[in-house]
This record gives sequence, structure tokens and C-alpha cells, in this order.
Amino acid sequence: MIEAKGVTFKYDSVIALNNVSLRIERGLKYALLGANGAGKTTFLLHLNGILRPLSGKILYDGVEITYDRKALSNLRRRVGAVFQDPEVQLFSATVAEDVSFGPMNLGLSLEEVKRRVDDSLTACGIYELKERPTHFLSHGQKKLAAIAGVIAMEPQVIVLDEPIAGLDHVHREQVIDIFSRLNKRGVTLIMSTHDIDLAYEWADRVIVMKEGAVAGIGTPIEIFSDEQLLRSSFLYKPVVLEVYQRLIRRGLLKEGGNVPRFRDELIRGIEGAALKLPQGG
Ligand SMILES: Nc1ncnc2c1ncn2[C@@H]1O[C@H](COP(=O)(O)OP(=O)(O)OP(=O)(O)O)[C@@H](O)[C@H]1O
Ligand SMILES: [Mg+2]
Repeated sequence: MIEAKGVTFKYDSVIALNNVSLRIERGLKYALLGANGAGKTTFLLHLNGILRPLSGKILYDGVEITYDRKALSNLRRRVGAVFQDPEVQLFSATVAEDVSFGPMNLGLSLEEVKRRVDDSLTACGIYELKERPTHFLSHGQKKLAAIAGVIAMEPQVIVLDEPIAGLDHVHREQVIDIFSRLNKRGVTLIMSTHDIDLAYEWADRVIVMKEGAVAGIGTPIEIFSDEQLLRSSFLYKPVVLEVYQRLIRRGLLKEGGNVPRFRDELIRGIEGAALKLPQGG
């Protein structure tokens, strides 16, 4: 659906992307991992044309994207982006105005705009902030408002740059839940995050970046079983996988069946094994 071919990008003299080639498949959830400065944000900003490759190209549905105004506005209709810093995303006076800005520009009817605004604010759990000035919101509330603004556009692809960083537990769960529901309706998601455990349980595919290049791409189990890759890219093993693999190695759990992705799956596996232990053993 989106493909990067040999993309290189520099900020002045800093090489931020170095010959990045990868393919994003329709309908999947991608987690983009990598140390600070690895190039995640720079890569994501290429996917909806905010940054333009110095060399190489980005293709959308097999067609190379172009950078004239019309093409960019079409692209951004299909590829929505939630930026790392919500300050740069919110520009209207109130939350409702901000979230309605995009849908208004799509030329939708007022009722449809209103429906989308109300639905996305509700989905993000910030309906009660509707009339609040955006510049008085807390950082987390700004992030939620930025997410609501993108959801209201109903794009086919959403690029999320650390969307849950700084959110409390409840809003974090809520936002993840929204993303999952969008994905079930066919929306492709690409999310950068430093939350390894979330990437492991949430993503269909994990992309690892290092020093502006793609160091690995695969299923979460493939990526997080690659000790060498984890070490060299400054990542660690998700807790669920680490505990599971250690118990297997020590013969306390039997191999076979699915490798657990979620805490509950792991706990049930351990409980099951414990019940089979001989009494008093
Ligand atoms: N506006 C800029 N001007 C100059 N250099 C920049 C700019 N933005 C990023 N860089 C550099 O480009 C490289 C990639 O940065 P990028 O922001 O893409 O990394 P990141 O993986 O998103 O990091 P983080 O996890 O900290 O968000 C880094 O070396 C960074 O210092
Ligand atoms: Mg970043």
C-alpha cells in the first residue's frame, strides 16, 4: 500500500534516513521502534509528504507520490498523521474547531462534520473538552485532541508518532482501543513508540530503525527473539516473552502451542503448568 524505495533524507548535514526501503501492507498494524534519533519521526513525516526524500521515492498504491499542492492534499486525505508534538498540530481556538477543521475542508455537510467531530471526541474520551481553548489543555489532552482530529478525517492510513507517550493508563488504554477498532475496519496503522511491551502485544509487524536505516522488520515474535538485533538496536525483550522463554529453557513450561503475546495468556500458561505439578513437589 505504501512503499519507500531507497529513501535518503538529510537535515542540513545530518543524515536522518539512509537508503530506507520497506513496504507497508494494507490493513496491518505496524510498530516502529528504535533509539532516540534513529529516524522514526523523519520516516513517518515522509509517509504523508511533509518531508520529501533527498533521493529515493515513496509510492502509494504503486504510484510515486508528487509534491504539488493538489497531490499533497489528496495524499493527506488518505494518510492522516498524529505528530509527536501536539503543540504543532493544534492551531484552532477551541477543540471542536480544531477537530472540525479537516472534515470541513473535505467539503462534507455540516451534519456529517458535526457527527464526525462528536464521534471522534467521544471515542477519545474528551467530549467534555469540546468548547475548551486548545492552548489551555494539558499535554495529554492536547495529544487526545490531535488524535481526535485525525480520526475525524477517516483516513485509510494513520501514522502515529508516539501517540501514547505521556498519557495516563486510562487514556492510553482508550487510545489503543480506538486504534484497534479502526484497524478492524481496515485502517492501516503505523505507530512509533518506545513502549516495547505494547509493540509486542499490539503490532502485526515490527519495524526496527537504527541510525537512519531499517535494522529489521518482521512479526513481533521474530523481531523480539533476535537477541543480536535487540542488543545492537538498544531494545530489550518484552516481559511476557522473556518470562515465557526463561520458563521454557528451565523446563518449567512445555514448548508447543502459541507463544503468549499477552500477560493473561502467559499467566494462564503458568497456572496450567503449576496445576500439573505433582502434589508437594
Ligand atoms: N529539525 C531537525 N534539524 C536537524 N536535525 C534533525 C532535525 N530533526 C531531527 N534531526 C536529526 O535527525 C536524526 C533523526 O531524528 P528523528 O527525529 O527522526 O529520530 P526519532 O527516531 O524520531 O527519535 P526520538 O525517539 O527521539 O523521537 C537525529 O540525528 C536528529 O538529531
Ligand atoms: Mg521521534
